[in-house]
Amino acid sequence: MLDGKKTLFSGMQATGQLTLGNYLGALKNWVHLSDEYQCFFSVVDLHSITVRQNPTELRQRARNLLALYIAAGLDPEKNCIYYQSHVSGHAELSWILSCYTYMGELSRMTQFKDKAAKHADNINAGLFTYPVLMAADILLYQTDVVPVGDDQRQHLELTRDIALRFNHIYGDVFTIPEAYYGKSGARIMSLQDASKKMSKSDENPNASIYLLDAPEVIMRKFKRAVTDSDTKIIYTEQKPEIKNLLDIYMATTGIGEQEAVASFEGKGYAKLKEEVGEAVVACLEPIQKRHSDLIKNKDYLDGVIKSNAEKANYYAAKTLRKVQKKVGFPVRVR
Ligand code: TRP
Repeated sequence: MLDGKKTLFSGMQATGQLTLGNYLGALKNWVHLSDEYQCFFSVVDLHSITVRQNPTELRQRARNLLALYIAAGLDPEKNCIYYQSHVSGHAELSWILSCYTYMGELSRMTQFKDKAAKHADNINAGLFTYPVLMAADILLYQTDVVPVGDDQRQHLELTRDIALRFNHIYGDVFTIPEAYYGKSGARIMSLQDASKKMSKSDENPNASIYLLDAPEVIMRKFKRAVTDSDTKIIYTEQKPEIKNLLDIYMATTGIGEQEAVASFEGKGYAKLKEEVGEAVVACLEPIQKRHSDLIKNKDYLDGVIKSNAEKANYYAAKTLRKVQKKVGFPVRVR
């Protein structure tokens, strides 16, 4: 609890570019949640280096991502929007928590198994302890709720286990966080293969709409979107490609299923793709405009980054001092 509100923490990695799926599935919901909760939204760059990154690109993507949080509607005066690497408490708490986490637990994480298979030439210790850092992110701010996708549920469960274990030994130190399962965002699939989620790590750029794609690029990607060989525009699991296009249309326009389907009656797939493309362009235009203004306004953005990191550090230090004392580290002489 902070200022009478429950605390919410979430973060995204600055690997790859944010997609329409990330926006409609997560970021857009964060904006709604930010009215109700005291929020920390982090650009989790410490997590990003578990996979090799190009330093210049990482820095640039991280700045773009932080600016996108704000451009999407998160107010940096009300929410804490910051780089994870600017708050050293994440790494410090992560070390302590790693001494309360078992190898067996980490070995069971499905994301570790997947990533280890994908990056067989670089199965580093950070990849293995990634969930502990994530637990530190969450517990550092005494977080009550964490909005997460299905792929992060197992990590959140582990976070709870670690927190309960720690509290069991040392008393009430951490708030036990809960997953936020409220009204979930739209689940947007790849434009090239509707059986896969739209993902920023997809190697085919035509599979994803990136939030900063120019209008003509967006239109072209929709034109190339894979569909079935039928012609009927109906909303059904049996037609996953058409369902995905309709889902995108509904999520970006706010139009309901029946009305959306009715508006495409008698029209062909080409028209559907065009109208969905236009809806996406219109939805992203104000975000892109705000983003470009923010990136141009260097002093303002730097000021936000500085003040928000200070805010985050303040809360992080409070928890960290408490934890350090509990485990028996010497008290600092002031
Ligand atoms: N691991 C998350 C992802 O890849 C990102 C993340 C890091 C996160 N720390 C977090 C999400 C804490 C929620 C809470 O999507």
